[in-house]
Amino acid sequence: MSTKDKVLLDLEKRKGVPVSGTIIANKLGVSRTAVWKAINALRAEGHVIEGGSGIGYVLDQKSDVLSKAGISDQLSEHIALHVFEEIDSTNKEAKRLAISEPSEPLLIIADRQTEGRGRFGRSFYSPSGTGLYMSLLFRPEFSADRAGLATAAASVAVCRAAKEVAGRQCGIKWVNDVYYNGKKICGILTEGVTGIESKTIDYMVIGIGINCHPADISGEAGDRAGDLGGGFSRNDMAAAVVNELLPLIRKLDPRQFMDEYRSASIVIGEVIRIFGSGIGNRMSDQSQTDSGVPAHVTDISDQAGLMVVYADGRSETLTSGEITIRKEIKS
Ligand code: BTN
Repeated sequence: MSTKDKVLLDLEKRKGVPVSGTIIANKLGVSRTAVWKAINALRAEGHVIEGGSGIGYVLDQKSDVLSKAGISDQLSEHIALHVFEEIDSTNKEAKRLAISEPSEPLLIIADRQTEGRGRFGRSFYSPSGTGLYMSLLFRPEFSADRAGLATAAASVAVCRAAKEVAGRQCGIKWVNDVYYNGKKICGILTEGVTGIESKTIDYMVIGIGINCHPADISGEAGDRAGDLGGGFSRNDMAAAVVNELLPLIRKLDPRQFMDEYRSASIVIGEVIRIFGSGIGNRMSDQSQTDSGVPAHVTDISDQAGLMVVYADGRSETLTSGEITIRKEIKS
């Protein structure tokens, strides 16, 4: 770890409490000049560090620059971590590294994505300074058909982290969108990396995008997208999500998290409209329109399937697809 990262780590640990350059220098076994240079370099990167050589340095509570030092120290286990100021897509980078530098679990985090991707090939707006874009690459010990459950685990992990770090109670809209104050604040995209020879899923990538602080999103997207309201550090949020997620995906036991998923669900009991390819077999004989197929959500299964009853009384459990809620979303 560079002196700059060590200084940042020290300031992170004492966030809000001033510490003199001499104390930092002695602790790290470097000169005061080296500390001073590190402080200047950190300020140039955007970290808000108050004070000076005579009065001590303090990392401002509001300073929210994503950093490896600020995240790795809080992880409950050591995992490979890459933090980027800008990247095309953290999911893409995770998949590239799965081939060139296989090590797992591997965490990729970025402050901004130029080609952030969402489900159904949509783009995911990923501006700098306000969001958290992260991808966790791991070798699944479960079969590919349980990927939906892994995604459900990720949405529970995000809800837990939002409560722990920001004190916000979120809801989950099936399959995997996390909502706060009636607006989507997080999307999750799970992808597989298939072995050319084995033709099996060698790695899985869970990509998570969280709108942490208010951002200027114009148009229709802005009407739907919300944020967690800020007031917390994205480093803390990233570490909390990973700390919650790793144990869940390792076991992938629905008993660990599906009750929590159901409690957080904002669709159980609601009338919804189902769109696209996710509509199951029993609906194939019913005509689909642009306005989707209406159904009543009765429950969510232990495998994260959406249990619905259609207008004609027939029932079905959907395993994928897209839904909208007819009533205004409350959570
Ligand atoms: C969705 O809502 O459709 C899913 C959005 C997933 C976005 C995240 S941001 C981090 C990771 N990198 C990507 O390009 N996409 C995912």
